[in-house]
Amino acid sequence: MSLERFKGWRALVTGASAGIGADLARVLAAAGVNLVITARRVERLEALAAELRAAHGVQVDLIGADLATPQGIDAVVAGCDAVGPVDLLVNNAGLGQAGRFLDNGWAAEAAQLAVNVGASQALTHRLVPGMIERGRGHVVFLGSIAAYTPIPWFASYAATKAYIKRFAEGLSRELAGTGVGVTTIHPGGTVSEFSDKAGIHLDAKLEKTLMPARAVAEIGLRGAARGKLNVVTGAMNVLTVWLMKLLPKGLMMRVVGGLYRKLAAK
Ligand SMILES: NC(=O)c1ccc[n+]([C@@H]2O[C@H](COP(=O)([O-])OP(=O)(O)OC[C@H]3O[C@@H](n4cnc5c(N)ncnc54)[C@H](OP(=O)(O)O)[C@@H]3O)[C@@H](O)[C@H]2O)c1
Repeated sequence: MSLERFKGWRALVTGASAGIGADLARVLAAAGVNLVITARRVERLEALAAELRAAHGVQVDLIGADLATPQGIDAVVAGCDAVGPVDLLVNNAGLGQAGRFLDNGWAAEAAQLAVNVGASQALTHRLVPGMIERGRGHVVFLGSIAAYTPIPWFASYAATKAYIKRFAEGLSRELAGTGVGVTTIHPGGTVSEFSDKAGIHLDAKLEKTLMPARAVAEIGLRGAARGKLNVVTGAMNVLTVWLMKLLPKGLMMRVVGGLYRKLAAK
């Protein structure tokens, strides 16, 4: 199925300056969706906006903002209000912090929680009432296959994604009948700036297993257009999630914890 359902809508895509967010914006623009893109690195947003206007003739507005702060969230909401109604909210901005929780700096842990959970919920709280009034809309969250198991040495990150998955599922029931749908996209390892920033050291063999961000964006948005609640991107990730559900939690935690302990080691 195509993204025809979203044609002519306006989407807010957070974290559009890199990785999956930039490709979510590209896929939406190609489907005729007008965009508001946001992140902290404004020069990257300007380059993406110019690319998308030229390639697809859609309206692209941009807002520079730090979503770890209440002021940043206010700036994004005010920017959207100035442009026009948002029909599709894509809560993509996020970051990871690998390593032993007690050894990680609290500032990094707090930023992870603020962006992955706080900003996603705050923007949903502020923008969905307008969608309900207009009788149409959709909220997309970026989860992860990490939402499906606790991960020692990546404990808080996995917990933020589990939180988002559960929140989105509950929210979808609360919104039933309003015309506003909810989807969480669950990628596995994907080519982006994420691992480097998270302190995850991938070797060449693991690098090869990463999915292109464009494929994640296409699969995820197609699932959203079909109204799917959870979309796990790619056959390998579907298999991994299936194993996560099947295997005893203690065994799963030993396996993934062992892996992340190694990947997080300097
Ligand atoms: N890559 C993976 O393997 C993977 C797997 C599963 C799930 N995910 C999820 O996919 C989403 C996108 O990640 P990615 O892989 O594309 O990572 P990425 O390449 O590092 O991009 C992250 C984006 O989030 C933005 N961001 C981070 N902190 C921010 C802040 N304080 N305020 C505003 N924007 C902020 C960044 O923009 P600025 O730095 O310019 O602000 C950037 O645009 C995340 O939610 C991530 O958890 C990724």
